[in-house]
Amino acid sequence: MSTNIVWHEHAVDKARRAESLGQKPLVLWFTGLSGSGKSTIANLLEQKLTAQDKHTYLLDGDNIRHGLCGDLGFTAQDRVENIRRISEVSKLFVDAGMIVITAFISPFRADREFCRNLLAEGEFVEVFVDTPIEVCEQRDPKGLYKKARSGDIKDFTGIDSDYEVPNNPEIRLEYADESAEQTVERLYAMLADKGLV
Ligand code: PPS
Repeated sequence: MSTNIVWHEHAVDKARRAESLGQKPLVLWFTGLSGSGKSTIANLLEQKLTAQDKHTYLLDGDNIRHGLCGDLGFTAQDRVENIRRISEVSKLFVDAGMIVITAFISPFRADREFCRNLLAEGEFVEVFVDTPIEVCEQRDPKGLYKKARSGDIKDFTGIDSDYEVPNNPEIRLEYADESAEQTVERLYAMLADKGLV
């Protein structure tokens, strides 16, 4: 924490911004293995929410690593820093009144809890995309599992780097042999059931 820095309260606050946008700001935090479908589902969900005039912003692992987190790799330490930055950015977007959708592997429980604890009660919704590794590896959309198995990539999640399964996610999206569109409908129904969308 920096020293000699004083927090300023602003006249326009989160509640006021959220009121202008006509929505409850929150973070829909997708977590799951590479190839689990996080990005695809998050993308489709954002389209669905936008079509309902919701104000959303999608933060996606591969994209954020091109800019804000372009200096980070995949050691445990770098992943912690990656999720710390994303958490802080998510908090800013929530403060702006937005519905934030994040799609990061975010393999460590403590880091996901870090984000939860940055936010107010009920603003953090953990969505566990629970696709078995066998399915992810079978899909292997970027050929990364193949490279990890042959040793061309090190520290690959699920192969030689840990993925800590969420203990008590708000939403657990169980794998089903269905289209991504059907999965999103299923997810949307679960979110609606909890009064989150
Ligand atoms: S993390 O663990 O949350 O910091 O990772 P994230 O920022 O979500 O980045 C995951 C994407 O990076 C690609 N990639 C790897 N993933 C896991 N392990 C290793 N070693 C690795 N190297 C590159 C991969 O394409 C991930 O994208 P998704 O969409 O998850 O498949």
